[in-house]
Amino acid sequence: MDEQTALVLALQLVALFSIAGALLLYLLCKIKPESGVESEESSPGAGKPVLVTSCDNAIGLQIALHLADRGYRVFAGLKDGAASGDSNDSASARVIRGWLKHRESLASISLQGTIVALPLDVNREDLLHESVDIIRAHLPAGKDGLWAVINTSGVMYRGRLEQQDVTHWDAILRTNVVGMLRVARTFQTLLRSSQGRIITLGNSEGEEAGLVAYTASRYAIQGASNALREELATSGVKVITLNPKGLSMDFMLTTPKLISKPDAEVSVDIFGHLEFQPIVLPPSALHVVNVAITCGNPKRNYTLLKKQLWRKPLHIFTA
Ligand SMILES: *[C@@H]1O[C@H](CO)[C@@H](O)[C@H](O)[C@H]1NC(C)=O
Ligand SMILES: *[C@@H]1O[C@H](CO)[C@@H](O)[C@H](O)[C@H]1NC(C)=O
Ligand SMILES: *[C@@H]1O[C@H](CO)[C@@H](O)[C@H](O)[C@H]1NC(C)=O
Repeated sequence: MDEQTALVLALQLVALFSIAGALLLYLLCKIKPESGVESEESSPGAGKPVLVTSCDNAIGLQIALHLADRGYRVFAGLKDGAASGDSNDSASARVIRGWLKHRESLASISLQGTIVALPLDVNREDLLHESVDIIRAHLPAGKDGLWAVINTSGVMYRGRLEQQDVTHWDAILRTNVVGMLRVARTFQTLLRSSQGRIITLGNSEGEEAGLVAYTASRYAIQGASNALREELATSGVKVITLNPKGLSMDFMLTTPKLISKPDAEVSVDIFGHLEFQPIVLPPSALHVVNVAITCGNPKRNYTLLKKQLWRKPLHIFTA
């Protein structure tokens, strides 16, 4: 074999190995999708059932509508449930009803997303148990499971310790921390059967005067989520924490308000949806929610806001 043939042969071998290597890499990525990459389905939700524990606040309402738009079957917790159906209902109840009405008016029946409002308060065992029955009744025949449970139930009271009422501390820890434990226990069966995921919201960094009890709850959520992840690991249920760093919790926990036009009519957007404020999550944060909820091999935690958005004074984003 002369030198030239050997060189050609060597080159061919290198090419062959790189193709084989690339192929192997591709197959590996297929089997184990990289965390952080969202699957590229046209309707990512595909009718998958998810529970958003509270839509009485701005973040819950925004996440519920976002997921329903993406094709999820969203169970939306509301203090007053589906409410009475008149104009005295909460803005959230009216926005959800408006969303459903608009969906009915659409010609395309292939849309799989929907919203089922149900009465839920994470501090009330009776409502938690009833919600399991309501959810079961709304699942397609033969399906028994929730794809995800997303916590959005939270309370926050600002104020220096010496001026705060102890009942405020109790309420913060009861709703934000114990509420999640109740939720995790109540929906365990529905989550196990679909190898679903629990998504919590908290982080263990930073501190602020006037938010002592709330800070305690944020840190506790991180610790409890990590321990719960260990506890549920063998059951296939995943626990993911979204880190709200840089987002205004005051806005996230605000009760949404409908936007009125000067003639006192409620404003609607180009899709015919009732407009409300505040809109708290920018599109990039909604994308993080998409990743956390769809990824087959999710990370333990995701940061909702990119670093460069942290210190922006304006915390209201337009959709
Ligand atoms: C709305 O609430 C007000 C006061 O609470 C009451 O007077 C009114 O009748 C209610 N409207 C409807 C449609 O129930
Ligand atoms: C649930 O979400 C709310 C934000 O809506 C937050 O205040 C609360 O601390 C969260 N709790 C857990 C356990 O994720
Ligand atoms: C967040 O997840 C990463 C790995 O994905 C881990 O190294 C880190 O400790 C987690 N942070 C917290 C606060 O649990």
